[in-house]
Amino acid sequence: MRTYLVTGGAGFIGSNYIQYMFRKYGKDIRIINVDVLTYAGNLENLKAVEDYDNYTFVRADICDSDAIRKIFKENDIDRVVHFAAESHVDRSILNPEVFVKTNVLGTLVMLNAAKEAWELPDGTYKENKRFLHVSTDEVYGSLEEDGTYFYETTPIDPHSPYSASKASSDMLVKAYIDTYKFPANITNCSNNYGPYQFPEKLIPLIINNALQGKKLPVYGDGKNVRDWLYVDDHAKAIDMVQESGRLGERYNIGGHNEKQNIEIINIILETLIEMLPDSDPRKANVSKDLITYVTDRKGHDRRYAIAPDKIKAEIGWYPETMFEEGIKKTIKWYFENEDWMKNVTSMEYQKYYDDMYKNR
Ligand code: NAD
Ligand code: DAU
Repeated sequence: MRTYLVTGGAGFIGSNYIQYMFRKYGKDIRIINVDVLTYAGNLENLKAVEDYDNYTFVRADICDSDAIRKIFKENDIDRVVHFAAESHVDRSILNPEVFVKTNVLGTLVMLNAAKEAWELPDGTYKENKRFLHVSTDEVYGSLEEDGTYFYETTPIDPHSPYSASKASSDMLVKAYIDTYKFPANITNCSNNYGPYQFPEKLIPLIINNALQGKKLPVYGDGKNVRDWLYVDDHAKAIDMVQESGRLGERYNIGGHNEKQNIEIINIILETLIEMLPDSDPRKANVSKDLITYVTDRKGHDRRYAIAPDKIKAEIGWYPETMFEEGIKKTIKWYFENEDWMKNVTSMEYQKYYDDMYKNR
């Protein structure tokens, strides 16, 4: 039985990945999820799997080298899938330090612990061990609206403290590959959407606000472009890279689904009106009049667009969920899971929201 160590598995993508893996492999795998449970980590996301015999949760900080090494000592880990990170650009602009600590130093701790556990005296590695570093398209910087794309060969050019910290962590992984022949891959994925995404990010924030009749904040002119991918397609890509990717390689992940932010907001409003039954009192709140243009994000990247040619050609990955279907599934999930939303917005969220949006 293969053992996976997943970091940040209580967050948005990590929790969807863990559920995807159990759906795909059932009892043939074991997953250990290590997460410190920041504001973004939520064990409710894993209710469906928490009682599985082949699932274990460990609450620990990836910067805590002793705690991470202990997990490797006590378990024969075959695969590391490293999601744990501070992930929100706006927060990184207000408070960069924690991004460097978790995203850069935390990644270094994970690399060292895996290397120590897997390396043989002659400098080679135990068989069939692999580390996958989950990164982002934001490390490539920003594109013009000119039909160009991010390739794996595009120079790294991050702009926000978040993307700079992710670029640094990518560089560390690359350094371990180049220096120690460490068995790793890096994946750089575009914007994900789907269930369990924390409502600081555009899509769940707009759904939540629209259902409550609150203003829908659009940064700048609303024409910044993001390339949206349904979260299960990201999970599938990660699994395929770990199974058949060439060791040491970087793979871009994206579904050619570029949309302006304002288009996304309009689609959400139209879909909510279409899907909510007339008997649902929240339907009366949903209106385009809620759209409010606010001060732009500092250093706001204009456009992201991934060229997924390499992962398609080498590994045969392709996205299965088209945006029209994925956004409907996502919106339905949010309006059917009002309690989840209430729980995650009940504590620190209100203060965050006021700080970020009150005087914007
Ligand atoms: P998220 O913020 O929803 O979840 C992050 C998780 O990491 C949380 O569960 C949190 O508790 C945990 N965590 C944070 N600091 C930790 C620490 N010091 N020790 C242990 N656990 C810690 O993030 P997400 O959107 O699920 O993103 C996951 C990964 O995917 C990140 O590395 C991010 O850079 C990358 N990524 C995200 C997207 C996206 O669109 N969301 C796209 C591409 C890549
Ligand atoms: O591209 C991958 C990245 O996508 C990931 O690496 C990040 O972890 C993830 O957070 C995401 O970053 P973005 O900055 O693109 O996502 P966000 O949802 O914060 O914003 C999407 C776009 O919407 C962006 O252009 C800013 C805009 N926006 C966002 C918010 C929260 C608004 O106009 N209003 C808002 O209130």
